Amino acid sequence: MSISDLAHAPEVLAHAPDGSVSFDGADLARLAADHGTPTWVISASQLRHNYTVLHAALSARLSRPVIAYSMKANNNRAVVQTMAGLGAAMDCSSEHELALAVSAGVPAGKVIINGNGKSRAYLTAAIRTGVWQINVDSIAEVGRIRAIARELGVTVPCAVRLKLSYTTLLERDPSYERTLRVAEGKFGSSTRSGDAEAVVKAVLAAEELEFVGVTHHAGFPGIRADYTAERQLMHQTLCAQEIVEFARLLRRATGVTVPRINLGGGLRSGRSVYLSTPGNGTDGEFRALPRPEEYAEAIAAGLVQADWDPIVQFETGGFQVGNAVLLLARVQDVKDVTRPRERRYVTLDCAMTMFTGRGLNRVGFPVIAVGQRPDAPVHPLPVELVGPTCAYDSVAEDILLPDVREGGLVALLNHGAYCEVLSTQFNGFPRPAVVYVDDGVVRPARRRETLADIWERESAGLDLWPAGGTA
Ligand SMILES: Cc1ncc(COP(=O)(O)O)c(C=O)c1O
Repeated sequence: MSISDLAHAPEVLAHAPDGSVSFDGADLARLAADHGTPTWVISASQLRHNYTVLHAALSARLSRPVIAYSMKANNNRAVVQTMAGLGAAMDCSSEHELALAVSAGVPAGKVIINGNGKSRAYLTAAIRTGVWQINVDSIAEVGRIRAIARELGVTVPCAVRLKLSYTTLLERDPSYERTLRVAEGKFGSSTRSGDAEAVVKAVLAAEELEFVGVTHHAGFPGIRADYTAERQLMHQTLCAQEIVEFARLLRRATGVTVPRINLGGGLRSGRSVYLSTPGNGTDGEFRALPRPEEYAEAIAAGLVQADWDPIVQFETGGFQVGNAVLLLARVQDVKDVTRPRERRYVTLDCAMTMFTGRGLNRVGFPVIAVGQRPDAPVHPLPVELVGPTCAYDSVAEDILLPDVREGGLVALLNHGAYCEVLSTQFNGFPRPAVVYVDDGVVRPARRRETLADIWERESAGLDLWPAGGTA
């Protein structure tokens, strides 16, 4: 299975007949020479394109959509600033992300605070900042927010995070139970048990709090072998439908109309996603992703019973940034083996441990051999791209690539979401640099980590034993 098919590449990538590859107008060979490898390359134009397309699709179907960029997907300040410049709201999940949003110039009135078990420090910072809304995860959190609000003498806008009953959804697709168990079980308060209604009532009753809405997130289900766009859209519609049913029930019980409905994220950018079982790349294949218009249609269908005009919030991370970043890496070694299978192992100077998402789930990445003509013949052996660490370090499995050589460059596409943010220093490999490209202009965005950075955090050491001694 080839995952070097340009039909799946982002709009800003161009592979010229002479083999040169550019990303948002920057030549990748030049960029590697100037900035070294491995390097994450962010495209500002692709970020803008993704936001604009999604915003247009949602605005065509909904009267008051708001897109919040979910910073957890990629927390480079350059990305956050670009999204802020486009007018996006921000979805933060930690004290650091909140500080980053503020430092990137995001107005407090556009910040949404997420997370379960939020620390006192995080809640206090959010309340002091005067954020747009805190998504409340539990009844106990209501008490914690009230106490801080009282101390600071302010009123805090709160939305209540829902764990839906998913009754209709599970009837239509019993396998959704696995998604719930793996990804969503720990969040929010249950509508089925009455907990969610109790949290809403507690917020309504508290003079320090203002009830502003309900919130739910159905995650990207690309971890599933049976992923299809149709199935994902059906899940989104049925979740939205159940949220509206709950809001109508609340109105009957409390007389309050829910001002904001937050539908979370779960989308991915690009035309398709490459799925394979880690450790068995031979089952890999491209699956189409929902187009923004199809997503907007599915959401509108789910909201059809809302006989009022709520603000509809989205917290999309993967869609905004997924295909707007590539990882540029250099080939360190090429080794052809015959056992246990005929394979070519190509070791890169980046490792799966620098973007742990690949090892954790099924989503793979299209790969381009930089400097090789687009029509270059593929090498007869299936290629495993691997990293130099001693982990299960598969970067891409069972792919078709031209005859790459030591010192050559490869571009791993669609590396924007949940990659760099999950990178580790496993085996003591420093983390890559990040550069930001805007229509051919390249700027450093995050410096490459050094060996000195890794040393820096060690505090215990030579004083553990007397000089020359051992335990
Ligand atoms: C509450 C919440 N909102 C938004 C997101 C962003 O999701 P995505 O990047 O799939 O759009 C997540 C992801 O985990 C989330 O938990």
